[in-house]
Amino acid sequence: MFYGKYPTSRLRRLRQNNWVRELVSETILTPKDLIWPIFVRDDFSPAEINSMPGVRRLNILELQEAAQYAADLGIASLALFPYTPTSLRSCDASEAVNPDNLICRAVQAVKNLNLDIGVITDVALDPYTDHGHDGIIIDGKVHNEATIEILKDQADIQAQAGADVLAPSDMMDGRIGAIRSHLDTQGFHDKILLSYAVKFASSFYGPFRNAVGVDSLVGLSDKKTYQLNLTNSDEAMREIAQDIEEGADMIIIKPGLPYADIIQRARQKFNIPIAAYQVSGEYAMIKAAAANGWIDGTKAMLESLICLKRAGSCAILTYAAPEIAELL
Ligand code: PBG
Repeated sequence: MFYGKYPTSRLRRLRQNNWVRELVSETILTPKDLIWPIFVRDDFSPAEINSMPGVRRLNILELQEAAQYAADLGIASLALFPYTPTSLRSCDASEAVNPDNLICRAVQAVKNLNLDIGVITDVALDPYTDHGHDGIIIDGKVHNEATIEILKDQADIQAQAGADVLAPSDMMDGRIGAIRSHLDTQGFHDKILLSYAVKFASSFYGPFRNAVGVDSLVGLSDKKTYQLNLTNSDEAMREIAQDIEEGADMIIIKPGLPYADIIQRARQKFNIPIAAYQVSGEYAMIKAAAANGWIDGTKAMLESLICLKRAGSCAILTYAAPEIAELL
């Protein structure tokens, strides 16, 4: 390919004015690309999350207002995460499969509004276990199959509550296939499976764990026996290949910006829609620097989202969704 040579070619010509910069812009971010993760609480649980400036846990009434607001802004979808009171957390995560639990009531409340906005639920046990892990612990290990048995029922009740998209986030092996075939036997052929195919064992999840009330992990001190080793990119590709084969419709890669290479590689290798998750720690870093006056928080937030799209994602989960949608 001939690229042209200075001075015949001057790349600054296309940067002279706003109109021409926009004309040749290769990446466009719109509110329709955004998924807004929201923490849901009961009326009596605390709203404040001190590690995530600008984010609060919403009760169901506030959630309905937020859903309306998000729909008005053109945000594509909400992703709901529950704050479960300690009294409802247990070693067998039984609250996860209670059809009347907080998340099912929250889904119903949003769906009752009949808005043009998607509702995504998290299929994982960590908000419901007393030890904070994503699975059932047997003999000191997070047990793959015992966990999957519960995930099938959890997906089922969320589907019944009206969730449009089910997002298994725990990195157990075989969960996508098991959930897909279970949903098929229940007649839920149209439920979208958004697999967290690539979820690294990351330090950037700290504020999220604070938000869902998992302040320390009991037993195993980290999630490295199920979440991906952050050094690995080939293994991430194998995860995606397996999940596509098992019936995933879309995948999530997470965290976002530090893992943009994984997004780009996945985009080149697979033809499945990719959502990037700008996780709580990434959000909090930008907010903290902005609060100190060290960076322009809004511009930095927008920049990191555009970069995630440029890397190859078609959708982005971000806690800044309403703020950025307003801006756009
Ligand atoms: C757990 C889950 C986590 C996040 C989403 N689902 C945390 C974890 O794996 O410990 C993190 C999201 C974020 O940090 O914003 N199923």
